[in-house]
Amino acid sequence: MIVDNLITNAIKFTPPGKTIEVLLRAENDSAILDVIDEGQGIRDDEKEKVFDAFFRGTRTQRGERGEIMGSGLGLAIAKEYVDAHCGRIDIVKDDLRTGAHFRVTLPLKWKPT
Ligand SMILES: Nc1ncnc2c1ncn2[C@@H]1O[C@H](COP(=O)(O)OP(=O)(O)OP(=O)(O)O)[C@@H](O)[C@H]1O
Ligand SMILES: [Mg+2]
Repeated sequence: MIVDNLITNAIKFTPPGKTIEVLLRAENDSAILDVIDEGQGIRDDEKEKVFDAFFRGTRTQRGERGEIMGSGLGLAIAKEYVDAHCGRIDIVKDDLRTGAHFRVTLPLKWKPT
């Protein structure tokens, strides 16, 4: 669900022909997943809000044909899942790129209690 929403967002918010990068690596005791796209990115003033339930960015509420693009729930649910696994989800600030860059960090040794 976490990966699904991030990749679905990247596809949804990136024009055809652009590249989406998905990188997974282990670092110290964490798994780090990066999903990087070449879309319009997320406005600085909306970066904190995208994890709120029902929030949809002003740039991206409607598709090219005016269709409503989503409910605004995907990232809120993804954040709940990540939090439940003692991880974190961040937007990485990247001056060299225009698109969005989401990073999920999860402890490799997490055990349900
Ligand atoms: N990769 C991205 N590039 C640009 N904007 C994004 C990206 N991912 C998320 N956003 C912005 O964050 C908002 C919230 O994302 P979220 O996944 O929660 O909702 P959604 O994709 O609109 O709907 P849902 O996931 O419920 O179908 C999006 O509407 C969009 O404005
Ligand atoms: Mg979504």
